[in-house]
Amino acid sequence: MYKIPLELLQSPVSKKPLTLADEFTLKDEEGNVFKKNIEAGHWNFIPSRSPIYSEEQWNTFKKLIENFVISYEKHPEVNVSYDVRQDAFDFGDFCKYHGKVLDIGCGPHKIPSYIKYKRNNDAEYYGIDILSGEHPKELNFVQAMGEHLPFRDNSFDVTISGTSLLHYVDVKAGIKEALRVTKPSGYSCIWLGVKSKEAPKPKQSPDWYKKLETPEGAENPFHYKRYTEEDFEKIFKELNLIVAEKKAYPVDEWRKNVFFRIKK
Ligand SMILES: C[S@@+](CC[C@H](N)C(=O)[O-])C[C@H]1O[C@@H](n2cnc3c(N)ncnc32)[C@H](O)[C@@H]1O
Repeated sequence: MYKIPLELLQSPVSKKPLTLADEFTLKDEEGNVFKKNIEAGHWNFIPSRSPIYSEEQWNTFKKLIENFVISYEKHPEVNVSYDVRQDAFDFGDFCKYHGKVLDIGCGPHKIPSYIKYKRNNDAEYYGIDILSGEHPKELNFVQAMGEHLPFRDNSFDVTISGTSLLHYVDVKAGIKEALRVTKPSGYSCIWLGVKSKEAPKPKQSPDWYKKLETPEGAENPFHYKRYTEEDFEKIFKELNLIVAEKKAYPVDEWRKNVFFRIKK
């Protein structure tokens, strides 16, 4: 169902080429095997264990996923770029889609609204997420981790990440991977949601939220860690990346959305 040429793919863990063992199985030279989710029609590239995470971090990652299913799949209205949202439309305009576009952490729904309503029909859209979610999606989808992308170096003109990076246990690994698969002539657009530590807690939380637990080592039930605009700028500097453009939109006294256009 999803058209992803084999020439675009590589093993997410060994970074070696993949060969088709049969219609539903891809293998790399080190014997790592990746299977197709036959019902949903997409490849699953989530490794059986991430080589960069300790056992504790891997358990935290798996518990975060359980919370993502509840918040993003079952209660999308407030938590993801689901249908009409001005912030998502602003991000879609900022991304200036062209060529091959990869949305990293595209969400569990058919298509995020920053693509649905802002698409350039001449571009080709790909998406990855750790959740499989609804199908068929309106972009070429594989299930994968942003820290271990199953794509070859310099494959995409535009890579994007819409409020996804704060969920990663290792955010730096995610940014590095996004830029690895971005062409030298291309760029990566990152939407960072910033919330001040002083922000008052909501007076009332929905019942589904109250039932969620914060996994060991994480800041809250969904975010491994919250970052400031300055924290992200420091990370870009450490990774020798260039901030080609930045736009900040205040939401209220304590929150803002910051969009970065990053180049290598
Ligand atoms: C707040 S939602 C945003 C989804 C979409 N970008 C949007 O704006 O509608 C965050 C998404 O990041 C995904 N995600 C979290 N950690 C991830 C990881 N390590 N690798 C890939 N996706 C991840 C979640 O499954 C979720 O779909």
